[in-house]
Amino acid sequence: MKAAILGYGVVGSGVGNILYKNADIIEAKLGEKIELKYVLDLRDFPGDIFEDKLTRNFEDILNDSEVQLVCEAMGGTNPAYDFTKRLLEAGKHVVSSNKELVATYGYELLTTAKEHNVNYLFEASVGGGVPILRPLWQCLAANRMEQFYGILNGTTNFILTKMYNEDMPFEEALSLAQQLGYAEKDPTADIAGADVCRKTCILASICFGKHIDPEQVATQGIQDIQIRDVSYAKANGYEIKLLGYCRKLDSGKIDAIVSPFFVPKSNQIATVSDVFNGIVVVGDMVDEVFFYGKGAGSLPTASACVGDMIDCAMHAQKRKNFGWGERDAAFVEDHKNCQSAYYVRGTGDINAVKEALGEVSFLSLQGAPLDEVAFITPCQTESELDAKLASIADFTIAAKIRVLTDN
Ligand code: HSE
Repeated sequence: MKAAILGYGVVGSGVGNILYKNADIIEAKLGEKIELKYVLDLRDFPGDIFEDKLTRNFEDILNDSEVQLVCEAMGGTNPAYDFTKRLLEAGKHVVSSNKELVATYGYELLTTAKEHNVNYLFEASVGGGVPILRPLWQCLAANRMEQFYGILNGTTNFILTKMYNEDMPFEEALSLAQQLGYAEKDPTADIAGADVCRKTCILASICFGKHIDPEQVATQGIQDIQIRDVSYAKANGYEIKLLGYCRKLDSGKIDAIVSPFFVPKSNQIATVSDVFNGIVVVGDMVDEVFFYGKGAGSLPTASACVGDMIDCAMHAQKRKNFGWGERDAAFVEDHKNCQSAYYVRGTGDINAVKEALGEVSFLSLQGAPLDEVAFITPCQTESELDAKLASIADFTIAAKIRVLTDN
């Protein structure tokens, strides 16, 4: 089958590399070659193995009836949305690593693919090289999904790990992640949580059957995490992780949030370090399943793209069904109404804290100032907690971070 790659950056060049290096095993599995006919990019790549396939003109690919399979690795929504839509309408299969595009236009593009009887697959958009979407829509299709939570961004997990284990300053860890090709072009999308939000939306849409848009999910990144809170976490048996979190509520709605969490060291998510991603999924029949692997980087991400290309080529006449329905504006509960435990640090009188909050677990840290109070609350809504904290006279809040619990 003849193929094309849109975008020859970190992921696109990884796809080219795999198609070249593993051509023999791909052909053995598929019974035919995946032949790269075009690579679309505005840049030149002198000396590259696919230099002679380069084009700057998208129409070359769109209008070539021999090309039936396209890997979109451009990132962003413009022009990726327009290109993807037109390719699907032209009856070509498209695979993508583009989480922004899928999170924003997933329902629409899947509908277009269905109308034209082709596949739109995007395993690489969540978890990089970790197989997670196919297990959800295929292997776990017999389940009512109850919950998932995961470390979905390699860059921020890399930074948090360096800060936690090596006391490395934030900026130094970020620049190292950029050198290693983990970070987005604009790393704000990593640091401020937008990248995790997009991946959380894709997982939630597949798990719960309605298109969840990034603007429906409250998102907080790691930019406000202070070294003092890392020290409290370390001294009291917790890691600090940026999680995409989503669970089905008794009301039928979902609670979906992206936020840093204090994670008890006993939870397997706490063991996920560096660029690795880890995702816990809970289904009503399967119970708990854990997915783990490299969440960013050229070859791990390209591995998922090429897996999708092989799937498209192998089942060219058969469409995959994700069960991804239309958006429902009321489906995501306001996160302020959802229950969570919290870590709180502030300055004030410990007795006043006890009086206002009742049962909390106080945390200790050697060398902390005498008037510093840090504690973990029982589960409650953020609105309830904020009201109680506001009622404490002369208490200044320095940090408030969610705590991952069993419920
Ligand atoms: N910037 C992303 C990350 C790339 O660090 O996880 C993979 O989606």
